[in-house]
Amino acid sequence: MDQGLEAFLHAVPKAELHLHIEGTLEPTMLLGLAERHGLSMPWSTIEEIEAAYRFEDLQSFLDLYYLGASVLRDAEDFHALARAYLERCRDQNVVHLEMMFDPQTHTDRGIAFDVVMEGLLGAVDEARAEWGQSVRLIMCFLRHLDERSALETLQRALPFREHIDAVGLDSGERGNPPEKFARAFAAAREQGYALTAHAGEEGPPAYITGALDTLGVQRIDHGVRCLEDPALVERLVAERIPLTVCPQSNVRLCVYRSMAEHPILEMLERGLSVSVNSDDPAYFGGQLVDNYLALARELDMSGAQALSLVRGSFGGSLLAPAERAPFLAAVDAAAASHGIVRVGDRAS
Ligand code: HPA
Ligand code: ZN
Repeated sequence: MDQGLEAFLHAVPKAELHLHIEGTLEPTMLLGLAERHGLSMPWSTIEEIEAAYRFEDLQSFLDLYYLGASVLRDAEDFHALARAYLERCRDQNVVHLEMMFDPQTHTDRGIAFDVVMEGLLGAVDEARAEWGQSVRLIMCFLRHLDERSALETLQRALPFREHIDAVGLDSGERGNPPEKFARAFAAAREQGYALTAHAGEEGPPAYITGALDTLGVQRIDHGVRCLEDPALVERLVAERIPLTVCPQSNVRLCVYRSMAEHPILEMLERGLSVSVNSDDPAYFGGQLVDNYLALARELDMSGAQALSLVRGSFGGSLLAPAERAPFLAAVDAAAASHGIVRVGDRAS
């Protein structure tokens, strides 16, 4: 791989828009918390865990992801989890993070909503104060549960309204179309949340259309299956709908057979607003930087393409244009110092 590009990918300020905090639970912390709480897990060593993390589809991952999350019990645990990931952001130059969390994964097993929030918000406050980390929170509804549970979750979030920026939709996509959550998203919209939803990861392109038209989301998480519907691609380009793409997640969950087959650069070249994200890095074997490096290594991503993707990570964010501007200026400065130019700049 081009050394200059590799150095640029490490150094450039990046935004991450699609990251499940429960998916950052590293095996070491998982085993430590299981021991602390006297919980028995099917594995007792890191090696056993790593061997178990071979997934054949989204559901086979989700089964272990929910099992892993069951070791999170008190505010201290949620704090430690979020603190560890925020430190990884600092170390990777992920200057802006949009952190998804799944409250129902915890409230359904008797952990109070407030306990989750106390832990997460404590860590977020520290990262903001200690190193100026920019963070937004996205509360996701689990789509395998019913809409009543999503509406209850929205109710529980009311005391924390000012701390949560957006509502999302995740978990098993097949058989759980966006339309199932029309009322929950309408209620979230009324409360002033920004809206996003996972769609077109395993689900068909119609789920992307449903998320846009029925839920009214401003962004699509994953969205890669839009490529099966040229009219939808045209619409996503025309409406500049951001797609938060997760390359290593897609390969590990067998959406694509290998990174060499991943279409993210084709999506970029077709004018789609794509960004690179890690999704659940502890389960998929790669942090955000590793996802970018994999594109450079296996898809021969150019410097100009890398720059477009990094700029797209801020462009697709929940940040207001005035908040994005200084980040984009810093991105361009990093590009200039690494000799990377934007497409079109060379000729002008
Ligand atoms: N898809 C759906 N649900 C999820 C994911 C994902 O990639 N990661 C964590 N929950
Ligand atoms: Zn996701």
